[in-house]
Amino acid sequence: MRLDRFLAEAGNGTRSEIKKSVRAGDVAVNGVIERDPGRHVDPQTDAVTVRGRAVSLELLRYFLINKPAGVVTATQDKNAGTVLDLIPAELRRGLYPVGRLDKDTEGLLLLTNDGPLGHGLLSPRRHVEKTYAAVLRVPLTVEAQARLAEGVDIGDETPTLPASVQATEDGCLLTIREGRYHQVKRMMLAVGNEVLHLRRVSMGGLVLDSDLVSGGYRPLTEEEVRGLYEAAGMPFPDT
Ligand code: URA
Repeated sequence: MRLDRFLAEAGNGTRSEIKKSVRAGDVAVNGVIERDPGRHVDPQTDAVTVRGRAVSLELLRYFLINKPAGVVTATQDKNAGTVLDLIPAELRRGLYPVGRLDKDTEGLLLLTNDGPLGHGLLSPRRHVEKTYAAVLRVPLTVEAQARLAEGVDIGDETPTLPASVQATEDGCLLTIREGRYHQVKRMMLAVGNEVLHLRRVSMGGLVLDSDLVSGGYRPLTEEEVRGLYEAAGMPFPDT
């Protein structure tokens, strides 16, 4: 649908007011200012903001799931079950996973139809914190902890950003502020260790409930959604 029609249907003024506002640079699509009111947007997947505020045609829904191993972080897959299959069919429409966990990684994953929030949480500029509980092949040395805390070379153009590390009985709790491909596993390999099991326990202040069964889900509270907006550096839509 056209951007100006989308904004009008979502209650952002008349078509002519909207055109003016788009041309003035008030509107961003997926984080990039868009000055063409006729540009096509997909209300399900594109993140549209007006002066930084999220715009949506739908009632926004937010679910936390405890992803089990063996399930793919995608909306569809030919060969395996997806994280969407964990949500009842009548609640599933328009939801997508915010970020990606490997097939063998478990734990906290946010599913929502709030495109702008998802976009903000994943933006490399925001450095939203994600904490993982990693079971490791060998105990983490003090030297390895110091290197992980400082940032390590995992074969990318730049080293990883400083991380927080806390040794645990069988591995560590690692908090990172990026979301590179296989990042935790590659960080551990870079310090001569290996991840045997990985579980995400928090993201942007949202914490996985200890009593949420593997494969279970629950809706977020408004306070949690507000917390995620804050973590993403975005104003909460109705304020
Ligand atoms: N880092 C990884 O290596 N895997 C994940 O699934 C998430 C972070």
